[in-house]
Amino acid sequence: MHTTDAPWLSIDARMKTASIDSSHPGFYGDPYAAYERIRAVAPVFYWREQRLWCFLNAADVGAVLKDRRFGRELLPLPGQPALEPEIPEHLRAFHAFNRASMLEREPPVHTRLRNLVSRAFLTRSIDRLRPRIAALAAELLGQMRPAGEAELLFAFATPIPVTVIAELLGVPTAMAPQLLAWSHRMVAIYELGKTRATEDAAEAATREFSEFILGHIAERRRSPADDLITHLIASEAAGDRLSEEELVGTCILLLNAGHEATVHAIGNSVKTLLEQGTDPAAAFADDAATERTVEECLRFDPPLHLFRRFVQEDLEIAGVRLPRGTEVALLYGAANRDPARYEDADRFVPSRPTPGGASAHASFGGGIHFCIGAPLARLELQVALPALFRGLPGLRLKGAPRYKDAYHFHGLEALHVAWP
Ligand code: HEM
Repeated sequence: MHTTDAPWLSIDARMKTASIDSSHPGFYGDPYAAYERIRAVAPVFYWREQRLWCFLNAADVGAVLKDRRFGRELLPLPGQPALEPEIPEHLRAFHAFNRASMLEREPPVHTRLRNLVSRAFLTRSIDRLRPRIAALAAELLGQMRPAGEAELLFAFATPIPVTVIAELLGVPTAMAPQLLAWSHRMVAIYELGKTRATEDAAEAATREFSEFILGHIAERRRSPADDLITHLIASEAAGDRLSEEELVGTCILLLNAGHEATVHAIGNSVKTLLEQGTDPAAAFADDAATERTVEECLRFDPPLHLFRRFVQEDLEIAGVRLPRGTEVALLYGAANRDPARYEDADRFVPSRPTPGGASAHASFGGGIHFCIGAPLARLELQVALPALFRGLPGLRLKGAPRYKDAYHFHGLEALHVAWP
């Protein structure tokens, strides 16, 4: 095992393994440095502590995403009965939520769920939310301005996505603090260093959240409104509808996924723009410039770095033999810094041509699980970031921002800023 000069990382190039202490600030504060050291010797490596084969390169990540031999759940072999995973008693509600969530399913269940949800989602265009997001940003900036300083995650980056997703679904925005609390307790289960206490908290939050959503669905059945929950209830394809359990699972998934990543995408983007001394006038000169800047922010420092897949059948990929049932990880943050895909990959270049097609960044994933909320997340960033820099001229960092001790959700602990 080759120990690097970093105490939290050692690499064995011959065995293609790495030992990474994911709770060391040297790693979670700058995982990109670790990615490059490992990529140089083993672009596909076995992460010993996590027992995961990890893919770093953009081409490999893209190939796995499109390869149906990899999936979010392990499917039964052809002709075999459905696999019944052992569900610990203390995670029953959380497991039921996962089984009703498109993110955790593969076709044919995934296709059916995603189809029904997409229909409800696309009933009206996401772009119609633009004026509402702008008004929300203006309102928050108005509240912040007199103080001359703020903790931006609390004052700006959190309320925008939470309010937008709550309004979109038709859940009272007064519930926002409770939604945040449930969501944080649920998503903590995806952290690498989860404990039994994390699991118990996630289970309790799932039960409370489900009960609340069930009540809300019943209310919308009685008095339909022009909101996503009503559209989800009515959504129909080939005579098929979402079951009650699927409705609850989908609402929770959308509420959680709808803000957790976007909050940190806003935070990480503002940090990058300020640290890099980007000229806001050029970065947000017009719609095209804003779009390029937002995509570069998402490429440069995305909020979600690791997603898992199961190997459905014995196979060999990128020189590694993987038996059925192996769990692999796609490192989206590493794919985004692949020098084979991007010139000067470690440089932040807001005028970089908008990645599309083969050069698209991996921050929203790809293949059948490509983020269903990407158009909404992009819109929120495209409206909120220029509004912030125009609304608070002279915005600057107040102290060096620190990342949270959480690898999977790569976001800041706090973002203190000030303005003249
Ligand atoms: C910047 C913000 C966001 C980022 C970086 C992000 C990232 C992602 C990624 C990487 C995936 C794929 C996971 C995988 O490969 O297994 C995903 C899936 C998903 N996202 Fe997002 N997301 C964001 C915002 C949103 C929003 C605003 C919503 C909802 C309105 C949302 C809803 C979902 C859903 C429902 C899925 C599951 C799709 C499926 O399994 O077919 N996301 N997201």
